[in-house]
Amino acid sequence: MEFSLIDQSIQHFDGDSVVVFSSVDKVFADINIQQLIELSNFESKAGKTLILNLPEGFKAKQVIVAGVGDTPISAKNYVKALVAISSVLGEYKIKNTMIQSLEVDGFDQAWVHRTTARVIQNANYKIHKVGTDKDKVTIENIAIQSTTDNAHDLMQGQAIANGMSLTRNLGDLPSNICTPSYLADTAKSMAKEFGLECEVLEQDDMDKLGMGSLLSVSKGSIEPPKLISLSYKGDGDSKPVVLVGKGVTFDSGGISLKPGAGMDEMKYDMCGAASVLGAMRAIAQIKPNINLTVVVPAVENMPAHNASKPGDVVTSMSGQTIEILNTDAEGRLILCDALTYVEKFNPEVVIDVATLTGAVIIALGKHNSGLMSNNQDLADDIIVSSKGALDGVWQLPIEDEYDEQLKSNFADMGNIGGREAGTITAACFLSRFTKDYRWAHLDIAGTAWISGAKKGATGRPVPLLTQYVLDQIN
Ligand code: BES
Ligand code: MN
Ligand code: ZN
Repeated sequence: MEFSLIDQSIQHFDGDSVVVFSSVDKVFADINIQQLIELSNFESKAGKTLILNLPEGFKAKQVIVAGVGDTPISAKNYVKALVAISSVLGEYKIKNTMIQSLEVDGFDQAWVHRTTARVIQNANYKIHKVGTDKDKVTIENIAIQSTTDNAHDLMQGQAIANGMSLTRNLGDLPSNICTPSYLADTAKSMAKEFGLECEVLEQDDMDKLGMGSLLSVSKGSIEPPKLISLSYKGDGDSKPVVLVGKGVTFDSGGISLKPGAGMDEMKYDMCGAASVLGAMRAIAQIKPNINLTVVVPAVENMPAHNASKPGDVVTSMSGQTIEILNTDAEGRLILCDALTYVEKFNPEVVIDVATLTGAVIIALGKHNSGLMSNNQDLADDIIVSSKGALDGVWQLPIEDEYDEQLKSNFADMGNIGGREAGTITAACFLSRFTKDYRWAHLDIAGTAWISGAKKGATGRPVPLLTQYVLDQIN
């Protein structure tokens, strides 16, 4: 799929179809098309579309009318319209299309170009079924009407969609294929393709570093654990942004076994890992002047005779001891050692991304990721980036009162804090390992995938992470 900018009227576009927008009180089209739309009683709600044959005087065959709701046009409605347009283009196998330019409230044309490319390409993502060939995308060219010819924003949008596609693919793969070793191999092949630095630590290496907490999770599994680091260098020796992604390739709960219903979805427990790799994929293609390192602790959490048991006490790389009161609170056990390990990169800032708690789904549903931080300026920056990326977050507090719930009689802390505020106590646990740098935590358990008939990974929060990294330049 290719995107381009053209400075042309829609009458003169010599392709298959043109897209025009229609808001509740205004049609952004010439008088001929306006009459056609009025004749068909089109409701201009965002997400509604109408296909009409074009009258004499147009070079293209059809017009797709896309509703965008009220004026001024909101970013959310514009995206809804783009998703609807994508499904029409896919359904009717329309190859060459021109999209009318449009003003979106609060955003500039560069944003419109980047978002259009990202949303249309991502909406055309096809789930790759195991053992079959990849379905071909039928759209060939999308030309966006514009008086500028700066295609850089289109490339950025496509790079982000490519990153999301990697993330979705990894997320959807079953855990018998997408193992910790598979994630390590993926990072290695990305390093080759994009000229990145990659390092993979094995169990012995982690043992030597004293990662007793991380290894306590993987020890009940036949799959060897991996600690993956992948670095992009676009700015000499400056301090990198470091992203850490939870890579539990299957979370059975361990000895604190999960119930059977819906357990298949715990293949998605590596979506934090998949999203930081996806963000790296996007950045490696965009090649901005910044340094980025992504770190993935990758393990499988299984019950076994040699698995960790409730009540076991382990020593983390930081030296702090942890009483494992529930083996299903394993994400924090692998992240805490990864968060100590990343100090070696001398990070400017560290953001971890994890499908960490079911509680965040109860708190925020599937619309916003949970955001927690030890630095309010950092949290504010992430919120700003998330708005531009249309990849929502909502901040929850980290306070000492919550941290007290982690008290243990037998170690420096327990790995669970009871029923109340489960998302926050998980973050409090992590914050005990991030005292030496600016850190934020994204709990993506609600946003990384969709359940039900449309089950599948969403590719979130790749747009937010990529936008955040790009926003750090200057
Ligand atoms: N991976 C899960 C969190 C999760 C649960 C994500 C459901 C998406 C849907 C995590 O490892 C976990 O099991 N968390 C426990 C923590 C509890 C034992 C303190 C949870 O949320 O129940
Ligand atoms: Mn778990
Ligand atoms: Zn988990």
